[in-house]
Amino acid sequence: MLSYENKLILAPMVRIGTLPMRLLALRYGADIVYSEELIDWKFLRSKRRYNEILETVDFVDQTDGTIVFRTCAEEKGKVVLQLGTCDAGRALKVAKMVENDVAAIDINMGCPKEFSIKGGMGVALLANPEKAHNILKTLVDNVSIPVTCKIRISETPEATFKLVETLVSSGIKAIAIHGRTRDERPQHPVHTDIIRYVAERIHIPVIANGGSKEIEKYSDISKFKELTGCKSVMLARAAEWNCSIFRKQGLLPMDAVIEEYLKLAVDYDNSPSNTKYCVQNILRELQETPRGRQFLECQTLEQICDIWDLGEYCQQKQSQYQKMGIQGRWQVTPDRLEPPNKKIKSAEILDDVTEMKVCFIRASFNDLNLPKAKLHAWAGKNGQKLPTYHTEQVAKLFRTIITFDGKKYTSSFWEKNKKFAEQGAALVCLFYLGLVTEEELIKLGSIIK
Ligand code: FNR
Repeated sequence: MLSYENKLILAPMVRIGTLPMRLLALRYGADIVYSEELIDWKFLRSKRRYNEILETVDFVDQTDGTIVFRTCAEEKGKVVLQLGTCDAGRALKVAKMVENDVAAIDINMGCPKEFSIKGGMGVALLANPEKAHNILKTLVDNVSIPVTCKIRISETPEATFKLVETLVSSGIKAIAIHGRTRDERPQHPVHTDIIRYVAERIHIPVIANGGSKEIEKYSDISKFKELTGCKSVMLARAAEWNCSIFRKQGLLPMDAVIEEYLKLAVDYDNSPSNTKYCVQNILRELQETPRGRQFLECQTLEQICDIWDLGEYCQQKQSQYQKMGIQGRWQVTPDRLEPPNKKIKSAEILDDVTEMKVCFIRASFNDLNLPKAKLHAWAGKNGQKLPTYHTEQVAKLFRTIITFDGKKYTSSFWEKNKKFAEQGAALVCLFYLGLVTEEELIKLGSIIK
């Protein structure tokens, strides 16, 4: 059972707290790592799959094939799933889905963003302690792993304590306190005194959070512990900027951290957009340098890796994964998507349509070589009329039939948006026109067996 005594923790961070960053934090010395906040109803759209190629457990969104949460053996017993919720029933359903794959469940009661508050989540729960208590108690009573929550402070130490007492009475195992009120922003000083006031009066571990502005090196963590009277500390921004903050031996240079991060992103087939976002938040103002600008233009993992001399590493790993059967980056197993319940209506529509199963992986293209653009350019050069597109939507999936030179083409892979569906159909058309080969489609990650 996970213990929260004397622990260094990677805080939950949207888009930052995906698998590669969590593993990096653990390798540098973090004891516990939180996932990014995952919204309950979105999580409930996913299904658990074991990914034999990556040896990961994936929760795959059944409407579009994206990965909602990916975890692996290295973080077993150390990863906490943070949930955004306003409903005990939904929270419990998610908790049951992940109970055997994560070490604990945390409920986000600290997010001040409009999206959360409007949905009754995040800090909105702190204005409704009874509801917050009910969510926690429902989980505590029904799951086998520890349950915790993360809150912001109230205006006074006494009010914060009162709130915490109510939450703690649900049976949670620890509570993380971000030492700012719901209206304070990251640049405001953190109220270490209020965290201390609560920590001295509560019998479960209090995890102190909010000190990143003053935590520039490992030894600063001890100062934050002293100020807050807490033995456990949770770091967000300090880790986002330089994850080696968790290293006892001291900070590593930014480039070394990026290299380690990128290797993990490649190893775990992280999406290029998420990888880029995380690296961007390490580079920060250095994005203005020539190398930073080159980085900003990158679209694929390989292009990003190239800048840190890891292009070859990326290429080898990706081709190895492709040979083993991984088809796309963020559509790990698109062939196993739940088929739309009403497929395209009549078989006869498809009678005269040339069909092939390809998916469109945006990251495999830049703005200049998109399939539609290639097809239109070819049509222009050969004096042909431009193709026309007819797209059908079923549930949240799309499929396009393209008509070109009197013939119809489509991909039987349903895409998650109209633009992708059109590009997928254009790829099929290009293939039958002989303008793209099967080998090229495999390289683009488009072929679905
Ligand atoms: C956050 N924070 C946050 N908190 C949370 O409970 N769930 C979340 O998903 C996120 N997402 C998130 C993303 C990013 C990019 C940042 C910077 C922050 C808040 C975070 O966990 C922490 O409470 C605050 O940043 C204060 O801690 P630091 O940054 O001073 O260590």
